[in-house]
Amino acid sequence: MRPGSRVAKYEYILGDSSYEVRRLAFQAGVWRDMTEGLFDRLGVGPGWKCLEVGPGTGTVLLPLAARVRGRGGRLDAVERSPRYLAYLRRKLRGRGFDHVRLLAGDLLDAPLEKNAYDLIFARWVFLFLPRVEEHLARLARALKPGGFLAIEDYHRDSVAIYPRLPSWRYLVTADRAWFASQGGDLNVAGRLPKLFRRAGLRVHEIVPHVKVGRPGSDVWKWLEDYFVGYLDRIAKFPPFTPARAACFRREWLAAKRDRDSLIISPMMLDVVGRK
Ligand SMILES: C[S@@+](CC[C@H](N)C(=O)[O-])C[C@H]1O[C@@H](n2cnc3c(N)ncnc32)[C@H](O)[C@@H]1O
Repeated sequence: MRPGSRVAKYEYILGDSSYEVRRLAFQAGVWRDMTEGLFDRLGVGPGWKCLEVGPGTGTVLLPLAARVRGRGGRLDAVERSPRYLAYLRRKLRGRGFDHVRLLAGDLLDAPLEKNAYDLIFARWVFLFLPRVEEHLARLARALKPGGFLAIEDYHRDSVAIYPRLPSWRYLVTADRAWFASQGGDLNVAGRLPKLFRRAGLRVHEIVPHVKVGRPGSDVWKWLEDYFVGYLDRIAKFPPFTPARAACFRREWLAAKRDRDSLIISPMMLDVVGRK
C-alpha cells in the first residue's frame, strides 16, 4: 500500500497463482457470451473511453481494447496484482494497443479524472470489496454525464446441485464466510441497484444469467475448479470442519459419476447504472 493510501488493507483471497490464472481463463470461456452481449447492448465501439476495474489476466481487457480502438477510443485498467500487471503488459505488447493504459494499484488509490469515461466495467471484482459504497462513489465521479457503470457479479446463494448433497449447505455457508472474512459479499449483485442510486446513478438495466451443466460439461468443470480446487481454503471456515469437508469431497465425486447429476450455476447479474 502507498504511504498515505486511503485503502484499508484487505487480502484479495483468490490470489494470483498459476492455478488461478488457468481457472480465470477457463471461467472466461464459460461466460464470454454474457459479457460480449452486455457490450453489444450498450453499443460499445470505436471512440469509447472506458475503464476496466480488476482485469486480472485480461480475458475482457483484450477484446474490449479491440472494440474501442479508433476514433480516439481509449481503455484504462486498474489492477492491484503486480503479477497480473506483468502478465497484461506481456499480452498487450506488439498488438498496437497504444490506446490502453494500465494503472497499477488499488482502485481507491487510482488517479481517476472526473467526468472521463463513457463506460466503467468490472466483472467478478465487487464481490471481494469491503466498503462497496466508497468504491461506487469514486467510479460515479469518474463517469461522464450519460456514461455507464456496468458491473457483472454474483447472487451466489442460487447455486444448486442435483441430486442434493447433504454437505452442500456447509460448503455454501463456509464459502460465504471466507469472502466475508475480508469484507466481501458473494451476493453483492442484489445490493447494487440501491447502492447505485445512492451514488447518484440511475439504474439502466438489470439482466440475469444462469447456466446449467452435467458432469463432463464446461459448467461442471468450472464449478469443480472452484469448489474442489479451493476446498482446503473454504474448509477453514465454519460451519465446515475437516470431517464435513472430506464428506463433501466424497459426495461430489459420487455426483460426478452419476450421469443424471445437474449443477445450476450461481446467478450472475449485469447491473448497469447511468450517470
Ligand atoms: C476474480 S478476478 C476477475 C478478473 C477479470 N475481471 C475477469 O473477469 O476474469 C478479480 C480481479 O480484481 C482484482 N482486484 C481485486 N480488488 C481490487 C481493487 N481493490 N483494485 C484493483 N483491482 C482489484 C484482482 O487482483 C483480480 O485481478
